[in-house]
Amino acid sequence: MCGIFGYSGKGNAPEIVVNGLKRLEYRGYDSWGIAYQKKNKIVLYKKAGEIGNFTCSRIIPKAPIAIGHTRWATHGRATKLNAHPHESVDGRFVLAQNGIVENFQELKSKLISKGYKFNSETDTEIIVRLVEDNLKKSDCLLEAVRLAFLDLKGRNTIILLERDKKHIVAVRNGSPLVLGIGGDGIYFASDTLSFADQTDRVIFLNDFEMAEYDNGKLRLFDVNSGEEILYKEKKLPQNSAGIGKEGYDHYMLKEIVEQKHTVREAVQYSQSELRPLIQAIKTAKNIYVVGAGTAGFAAGQIAFFLRKYGGIHAIELKSCEAGSYRNLFSKDDIVIAVSQSGETADTIETIEFAKEKGAKIGSVVNMIGSTITRMSDYGFLSRSGPEICVASTKAFTAQISWGLLIAKAVVGKYEEAKQSIYFLSEILQKFFDQKLFIQIQEIARRMVNIEHCFVLGKGQNSNIATEGALKIKEITYKHFEGFPAGELKHGVIALIEKDTPVISIVSNDDDKADLYSAVSEVKARGAWTIGVAKSKNDLFDDSIILRDAGIADPILNVIPFQLLSYFLGVKLGNNPDKPRNLAKSVTVK
Ligand code: F6R
Repeated sequence: MCGIFGYSGKGNAPEIVVNGLKRLEYRGYDSWGIAYQKKNKIVLYKKAGEIGNFTCSRIIPKAPIAIGHTRWATHGRATKLNAHPHESVDGRFVLAQNGIVENFQELKSKLISKGYKFNSETDTEIIVRLVEDNLKKSDCLLEAVRLAFLDLKGRNTIILLERDKKHIVAVRNGSPLVLGIGGDGIYFASDTLSFADQTDRVIFLNDFEMAEYDNGKLRLFDVNSGEEILYKEKKLPQNSAGIGKEGYDHYMLKEIVEQKHTVREAVQYSQSELRPLIQAIKTAKNIYVVGAGTAGFAAGQIAFFLRKYGGIHAIELKSCEAGSYRNLFSKDDIVIAVSQSGETADTIETIEFAKEKGAKIGSVVNMIGSTITRMSDYGFLSRSGPEICVASTKAFTAQISWGLLIAKAVVGKYEEAKQSIYFLSEILQKFFDQKLFIQIQEIARRMVNIEHCFVLGKGQNSNIATEGALKIKEITYKHFEGFPAGELKHGVIALIEKDTPVISIVSNDDDKADLYSAVSEVKARGAWTIGVAKSKNDLFDDSIILRDAGIADPILNVIPFQLLSYFLGVKLGNNPDKPRNLAKSVTVK
């Protein structure tokens, strides 16, 4: 996680870097810092906490070159002292890092035995000292950085600014790094969104590549050999820059409402575009669908659709657990990776295991040009547009809409799936009205003091129950737990007492009767029963009635949970866009 941003050019670099960091805050927001050149010195400005509305005016002077960092703490608390960038003892350079130095302790002991001292609790300072150590052998900063980088274990991306020259060096492994080539300067960043309003010309770095910008000249190198490599610019699609709140108080609500369009965008693939993936699914020995967190539940739902509608024995795996099954992957398999960012370390690692065994990789990813997309044999975009709120909403429904299309396309029913998503999109056009908002706000009001809530689903709504509960946990910090309704009587029912809220998801399907049995069982024990259902029922104390979206029903059913999460979070005084302890792009293990 963490966001890195650097700029050199004709513009005011500190201001450009601060604005870039504001756009990267979704990657971590517990402290931040920038470094800029001023009269042959590097000046550092760091703060604990979010950047918020910080502006450079009157605090930071204009400068032609600067780098910055917004942090999600891994090693060391979220203090000003631990905030990046970190400076070399002689002040020659500063460095910021995104990642974890896994051999941190081993390297630190070696450096201490050589007499080096450390000021912060971070693993980043290890890299600074390693570079300093290499500079004793040769005065070339680029070479010193390269050698230091080769000593690091783990996924790390770093950026350095040198004092005496207009010189930025950045190296990538695992964590993302992209360069933006603007008319008046060059951008170094963790994603394209952070500078997409300035330029659409980009260069994506691969792992173990390093970029050097020295007095107006850009060069790329292979870190292992040290040799210069050629690079290719790419052009970003036109709509990449739109990341305003557009009148909404929070990105979360804006992104929830956007689902009326984004589900439709996710299925804008022609049959011929899907064909290679469909063919690979049909001929694969095993089909694994993987993801983490919300994307993990989307992976579960896509596997469900493949089993239910595609008649394919697809297996879902949590990315963080998939390593335990690496012995099972073979060259005859396909792994379908689901990810919003396309940069999640656990998911990337699973892909690496699978690729080592020769398996093919399919993916559905939201971020254009991301690592997972580039690792994929069959890469698809979920096309939801930028998702800025840390909690994923529109990306989830886009991923599973795409999954439904794939599952039906496997059995030649592409058109049926597409029409069902169009129908869902039509339902959503009139969905987000005052009446629904008021009803969910009222339920949220009555939930302010609750400690626990259980969410029941079955079959097509099983992953929806777990994702619905996760969404509410993330924003409200309350314990919501989702699970298959049938599991209730095997243990969890012990927790049900008078007024315990239980939300049940009921579609018009074969599982309806089982759901009602579970609701009766909790009602008999005094639970406060809430239905997300197609029609009222005496078993429910409160009902959120939704239209029947047919095979797309589970996609619709998650939305009331997203709204409940938002309204309850706001009522509790939390910032829905930046929940505590979380970051959007989890690029560390
Ligand atoms: C929750 C959420 C996370 C992500 C997970 C994987 O709202 O967003 O659980 O789904 O960290 O991230 P991606 O989708 O970027 O691979």
